[in-house]
Amino acid sequence: MVELGVQIADVAFNNPVLLASGTCGYGQEFSPLIELGRIGGLVSKTITPTPRAGNPPPRIVETPAGMLNSIGLQNPGLEGFVQEKWPFLAQLDTHVVVNIAAPTAEEHGEMAARLDGLEGIAALEVNISSPNMKDGGMLFGCNPEASAAVIAAVKQATRLPVIAKLTPNVTDIAEIARSVESAGADAISLINTLVGMAIDIKKKRPILGNITGGLSGPAIKPVALALTWKVRQAVQLPLIGIGGIANAEDALEFIIAGATMIQVGTAGFVNPNAGMEIVAGMRSYCAEQGIDNIASLIGSLEV
Ligand SMILES: Cc1cc2nc3c(=O)[nH]c(=O)nc-3n(C[C@H](O)[C@H](O)[C@H](O)COP(=O)(O)O)c2cc1C
Repeated sequence: MVELGVQIADVAFNNPVLLASGTCGYGQEFSPLIELGRIGGLVSKTITPTPRAGNPPPRIVETPAGMLNSIGLQNPGLEGFVQEKWPFLAQLDTHVVVNIAAPTAEEHGEMAARLDGLEGIAALEVNISSPNMKDGGMLFGCNPEASAAVIAAVKQATRLPVIAKLTPNVTDIAEIARSVESAGADAISLINTLVGMAIDIKKKRPILGNITGGLSGPAIKPVALALTWKVRQAVQLPLIGIGGIANAEDALEFIIAGATMIQVGTAGFVNPNAGMEIVAGMRSYCAEQGIDNIASLIGSLEV
């Protein structure tokens, strides 16, 4: 028997695999496709204090080994989430991490306080890294003081574990990681998408309605892995690796680089079973390698 269970703050996950925010909706969209009870959990699509319509279309374009999206955090708002989305999420037999974003640190705190009152949320993931939000997101995540202010406001407002989700679109991600660690974050997830662009050369116009979008998928995996490794050396917090993970081998690279858990995003659009296959592949790898507990693999990279 191989032990795949891992812990973030006081939350015990059955295995290290989560579905990434924005790629599994609010559970309902994904639940007919996979057995959610077999993965560690899911991270719901970012919610904001009030409903948002998102960016103008087109909002998605395929790229070599990946995709660009500029959804722009379309969501029903905090109360819409509580009334319409949470009842379904609450009855799932897997952990649910709720992802939040807001235009100010104070509003992040207010959202956290409201969500603290709901029973069953495993943790909050704070999206200080969206490239598709003009009034928050990456604006916070590019600045160490602003990142710390948001995380401190959320920590003050809730007893739930708080995960800071970082952007790769910075000069020194280690500095941002240290700032959210000192502000009290319980874990760091990384990375959100890289800013990218595509142009229709016949029309001489950007393909995305928002002009730029966020690049995800296999194309970004080496970047995500290098940043995970860099942040591993900068902080003590547990890390959740994200970016281009499509199979168990990809996932194991992140665990060996120092991530306690991983998230699967874009790969789920190609293969909804990717998350479950990654769990199975991790188990086989550990059995083959004589590893009893996946925890012993975390950060085992030899350099
Ligand atoms: C269509 C789409 C929507 C996304 N929406 C969100 C979101 O609402 N909040 C968030 O924090 N990240 C969002 N992301 C980013 C993913 O959670 C993830 O960080 C990123 O896509 C990298 O992982 P991947 O290469 O496995 O997709 C979105 C990504 C995609 C492709």
